[in-house]
Amino acid sequence: MKRRPYLRLLVFGCCVALATVVNLSFIMENVRRVEMETFEAEQIEVHESVTSRIPITLVICKNTGDWVNVDKKNVRTSWKRQKQQFAVIFASMLYFSKLSSIRIILLTDSVETYVELLSTISGWPQHQRRRLHFEMHNIEEERFKEGQLLQWRPCAWTKMYLPEMLEDFDATIYMDSDVLFLGPVEDTWAVFQRMGDVAAIAASAEMWYLEEGNNRPAAGKYGINTGVMFMNLTRLRKISLAENLMLYTDSDPAPRHDQDVLNAFLKYHPHLLHELPARYNFLPSSCQKSAPVCQECLDRGILVMHGADSSFYRFVDAKMKMVFRVLLEVSFNFSASLEQLVQRLEAGLVKLHKENHMYIYMCQHLPHYDLQLMRHARSLLASKISK
Ligand SMILES: *[C@@H]1O[C@H](CO)[C@@H](O)[C@H](O)[C@H]1NC(C)=O
Ligand SMILES: *[C@@H]1O[C@H](CO)[C@@H](O)[C@H](O)[C@H]1NC(C)=O
Repeated sequence: MKRRPYLRLLVFGCCVALATVVNLSFIMENVRRVEMETFEAEQIEVHESVTSRIPITLVICKNTGDWVNVDKKNVRTSWKRQKQQFAVIFASMLYFSKLSSIRIILLTDSVETYVELLSTISGWPQHQRRRLHFEMHNIEEERFKEGQLLQWRPCAWTKMYLPEMLEDFDATIYMDSDVLFLGPVEDTWAVFQRMGDVAAIAASAEMWYLEEGNNRPAAGKYGINTGVMFMNLTRLRKISLAENLMLYTDSDPAPRHDQDVLNAFLKYHPHLLHELPARYNFLPSSCQKSAPVCQECLDRGILVMHGADSSFYRFVDAKMKMVFRVLLEVSFNFSASLEQLVQRLEAGLVKLHKENHMYIYMCQHLPHYDLQLMRHARSLLASKISK
C-alpha cells in the first residue's frame, strides 16, 4: 500500500523521461516533419473565403543557378538577403492589411527551401502568423526548355510557366521576392477589373529597360518589368504562353532572360497587356526624370515597392532603403504596433531630410515623394485612431 505512491511517481517519472527523450529526438530529427505537419493542419483550416480569393504567388529557389558556389559576401547572391526580404514582404502585408486571411502560393525548388523560408516567420505572434495561408507547390522543372535551367537564376523562368504549373487556378498575382507593401494588399485585386475582356497580363513599366539596351523589343511604351504581374491564367493557358514565348528567344541567353522574352512577345501581342502605373510596382527607375508622373502614386500612395537588383541593400535611394530597414526591424518579432511602425517611418524621413541631400539619391526630385511613400500608412493610422 505504502509503495504505491512511489510506484506511481516512478512510472510517471519514467513516462516523462521517455516522452522527453522521444520528444527531443522527434524534435531534433524531425523538425522538418513537425513543421510540415503544422503547415498541413493550417491548410485544412483554410476557409472558403480564402480559397475563393485570388492568391499571391512567389517563387524562391535556394539550390539552383548562381546561388551555388557564390561569394557569400556578395549581397546580390546572398541567401540571408532572400530570407530577410521574405519576412519583410509578409510583415508589410500584415501591417497594412485589414484582411483576416491572405492566400499565398509559394513555389520553391525543394521542401527544405519551403520549410526554411517559413521558419523565418514562425516566431511571429500566432494571431498574425495565422493570417497567412501558405500553399506549397513544386517547381516542375521538367517543363523547362533545354538551356533555361542552365541560365542565370533558372528559377526566374518559373513565372512564365505559372499558367501550367498552377493549372487549377484562374488568376494569380505574381511577385518577385524583393517587393514590399506600403498599403493594403486588398487593393491589388481590383486590378483584374481594370484588365477588361482581353488582357492576360497587367504590369508596370520599367524605365531602365530601354535605356539599358535600346534595341530591345519593349512592350508598352517603355518596356515592362516582370517583378509584379497580374496574370489571368485562364487566358494565358488559352494562348499557351510558355510555348509561344520560345518563339521569341534567340539562342544565346538574352541579358534579362524571361523579361526580355516576355517583352518581345507582348510587343507583338499588345492586346494581351494592360499597362499599370508605377503604384503597383514602384522601382528605383520609376524616379527617372523621363518616367511618366505616377498620378495614382500621388493620389492614393505607392502600394508595392520593388527593391530590384538588391536596391534595398545598396545606395540607390536612401528612402527606399530606410523603409525596408524599418520593416525589417519590426519583422523580427512583430512587437511594434502600426502606430509605432508609422512613427518610425516618419522619423526615418525626418532624419534623412536633416542629413545632407546628397545622400538621398534616385528619387529626391519626385514631387511629394514622402507623401507617395506614406499616404496609405498615414490614412490607415488616421482611420484606426478615429475609430
Ligand atoms: C480570366 O479570364 C477568364 C476568361 O476570359 C474570365 O472568365 C475570368 O473571370 C478572368 N479572371 C479574372 C480574375 O478576371
Ligand atoms: C523586438 O525586437 C526589437 C529589436 O528589433 C527589440 O528592441 C525588442 O525588445 C523586441 N521585443 C520583444 C518583445 O522581443
